[in-house]
Amino acid sequence: MASFEGIRACVFDAYGTLFDVHSAAAGEAAALGDKMQPLSQTWRQKQLEYTWLRSLMDAHADFWQVTREGLDFAMALHGIDDPTLAERLMDLYLRLDAYPDVRPTLETLRAAGLKTAILSNGEPRMLAAAVQHAGIVDLLDEVLSVEDVGVYKPDARVYQLAVDRLAAGRPEAIAFVSTNGWDARGAANFGFQVAWMNRFGAQLDRLPGEPKAIVGGLGELPRLLGL
Ligand code: LAC
Repeated sequence: MASFEGIRACVFDAYGTLFDVHSAAAGEAAALGDKMQPLSQTWRQKQLEYTWLRSLMDAHADFWQVTREGLDFAMALHGIDDPTLAERLMDLYLRLDAYPDVRPTLETLRAAGLKTAILSNGEPRMLAAAVQHAGIVDLLDEVLSVEDVGVYKPDARVYQLAVDRLAAGRPEAIAFVSTNGWDARGAANFGFQVAWMNRFGAQLDRLPGEPKAIVGGLGELPRLLGL
């Protein structure tokens, strides 16, 4: 596996990478019963599709709205008509579980003098809530939202935002980590040195942009960065 060279900052995707998006539906396991898993899968899939489609349509709406619209679709598809449950699920999206390897990895990277940041589709209020809930506010130099450019990943303007805000100088100075295969591809295509964190044994997306490494968890990162 290729090691990363000349890294100045380590940038993380948020949803699916640091935060478990399926923990929202899990928080309403009793109400959802055997629809919990299919609902959560459809919700996530539609949420992402709507980001890509809105970018192509030049019809941006923030991630809170897109997340709600994905949920509305998923609830209708799975025959769940319960507006107060929808409200509770959206509220849980502000308090998603962080994966257990998040905090120790950020601590190691920071101790080694690297800058750390989030670069996410999330809008600032959602991201602030998730970061606060996870107790990692003090471990991040920046929490960057696509709202500053008004278009979603994998548009190059989103990845450029991280280069600019972290004063990285050039894309290659950033190590980017995402569990979302299409995001890993997009970021590599842009020019970041990318680790695709394949937590769930997914297939590699057939898209341009070659991740430099494939890891199974965040704990593998420090070694990859030569720390
Ligand atoms: C994000 C999406 C990709 O956090 O999950 O940007």
